[in-house]
Amino acid sequence: MEKIECIISYAQENLAKENTGHDFTHAERTARLAEKIITEDVLYVEKFIVIASAYLHDVIDDKVATFPAKAQQDLQYFLQEIGCSLQEIEAILEILQNMSFSSEKFFSTNPLSAEGKIVQDADRLDALGAGGILRAAYFSGAHGQVIYDKNKPPQNFHTKEEYRKSTTLINHFYEKLFLLPEMMNTEYGKKEGARQRAFMQEFLTRFYQEWQI
Ligand code: ADP
Ligand code: NI
Repeated sequence: MEKIECIISYAQENLAKENTGHDFTHAERTARLAEKIITEDVLYVEKFIVIASAYLHDVIDDKVATFPAKAQQDLQYFLQEIGCSLQEIEAILEILQNMSFSSEKFFSTNPLSAEGKIVQDADRLDALGAGGILRAAYFSGAHGQVIYDKNKPPQNFHTKEEYRKSTTLINHFYEKLFLLPEMMNTEYGKKEGARQRAFMQEFLTRFYQEWQI
């Protein structure tokens, strides 16, 4: 089996129990969106690193793994076993550790490589649009968040603990999702992100009408 096929199976196994919107299909879409960015922006990067990181990006995340440090150790051994070079392993782990919204916002992360910037934008694009709305609703349901609460205005969080504390589904649009287009690295990410945000704003306008907010 090719290395990338082994990596895809590893992601599938490790994300099998995930039910908060970070399941294997999210990894697949992230990989597909990353390819799209490479083609659209005509970027010359190490495609293996991009695709591998896209599939693996949530495997060591604290939202998905019960023990993130152990998940990272396991992943490192796995990548060695399937014949990845030390350089490749380092490049992948470096991306996984530094690409998340919460890490970028609350910790001083290392600047991402060209490959990492693509994976980060692809992940963020999958948080937007119709699919992004459904993923946020799915996450909210799994975490016991209400849809909307007039007594809870959206906030600007200062710590990861605050950010992870329960908010509302609608607040999450303002607290994170609408901020993403400006945070994109690539031209395609910026353009597509802004288009998806416009759709989500329209969606919210209707929602407010229906709920008479
Ligand atoms: P990252 O992994 O980049 O730090 P998050 O941890 O914020 O990003 O979460 C990734 C996805 O999970 C988001 O795009 C969103 O769909 C969902 N999500 C995270 N937090 C919330 C929340 N409080 N309410 C609804 N959805 C959320
Ligand atoms: Ni993700």
